Amino acid sequence: MPVKLDDGSILEYFDSHDPQLTSILLQAAEEYRLEALGNEVYMRGLIEFSNNCTRNCFYCGLRRDNQGLHRYVLDSASILELAETACQEGLQSIALQSGDLDGERAVLRLADTLRRITEMSLRYGDTALGITLSAGELSYEQYRLLRNAGAERYLLRIESSNPELFRSIHPPDQSYERRLECLAALKDNGYQLGTGVMVGLPGQGSEDLLADLRFFERWEIDMLGLGPYIVHPETPLARSRRPVQVPPLDSTLKMMALARLILGDVNMVCSTALQSLDARGLQLGLKAGANVVMPVLTPEERRRDYFLYADKRYKGMDVIRSEVEEAGYRLAYWKLGNSRHYYRVRGIPHPEFAAAGAGVSPGL
Ligand code: 5AD
Repeated sequence: MPVKLDDGSILEYFDSHDPQLTSILLQAAEEYRLEALGNEVYMRGLIEFSNNCTRNCFYCGLRRDNQGLHRYVLDSASILELAETACQEGLQSIALQSGDLDGERAVLRLADTLRRITEMSLRYGDTALGITLSAGELSYEQYRLLRNAGAERYLLRIESSNPELFRSIHPPDQSYERRLECLAALKDNGYQLGTGVMVGLPGQGSEDLLADLRFFERWEIDMLGLGPYIVHPETPLARSRRPVQVPPLDSTLKMMALARLILGDVNMVCSTALQSLDARGLQLGLKAGANVVMPVLTPEERRRDYFLYADKRYKGMDVIRSEVEEAGYRLAYWKLGNSRHYYRVRGIPHPEFAAAGAGVSPGL
């Protein structure tokens, strides 16, 4: 069961510079994770299928106004081929990511690709490939169409749960309220719902991080993807004069550990941003409670165009495997790894587990 932590003690963790207190927190999260979820790490083969984006977020390299990158869209056959690689290599889930999709045609094309992926994957076994989508703000009907076409999970970050801070990093036509409507629509359409934030944004304080954790709790999310904010030089936020108040690496790890304890059995990814910020990012993230990694399947020649922030790093499968094992974990081949949280809150038995890890008490 998730752990109750009051606001005061959460703020104490964020504000403390005592390495011992931080290591107590990280250790508690790791113990909780091992008892509740075991040492398996689920994989999602990441396919960054298009870097087109209709939005203009102040922090992101894919923003509409950034003309310094070559825009691409992978065709359906190429996506299908990459998904087939996932099937062959025992990655039972993929994550399809793009900028915010541009209109109905792009959505219909994606839905068609999803159906083809599902059909293809059933040639490899009884279970269709698990599909996570991350394609931005769409309409209720578009989310439903994609759900029916085979996507069971959707990741849409709130970026910051503080409406003021959200407004300070987005243009006026991208509203906080709209983002909430999208999250509600995803939930209503039966997706395993994922959200997350960036940590270390200019002007963000520890109260904001606390509010983010409460936001995840309130929304009963099934998946979490959070990572440090990393400056992209060709974006307006790179020129922000507001100070960064929380140390990005430390606060990201604390945030992940607290999320693991508070949210319990959600799936939590070790973000690429964390791994780009620090060479030890993968192992640090796992030890802070992450249980999902996303090996990149995007073709080599497209990767440099999927440039959200500076120094984005990609790791090969062999490196991922050895780092995961060195940290005491193991990659879960041939497993879907759906969020246990999703099933638990609905009272449905999880197809891959007999009983959820009940009664675990962390050493805090
Ligand atoms: N630093 C870290 N994360 C970023 N993202 C976009 N730009 C950056 C950046 N500069 C994240 C956002 C977004 C996701 C696609 O990538 O959280 O939701």
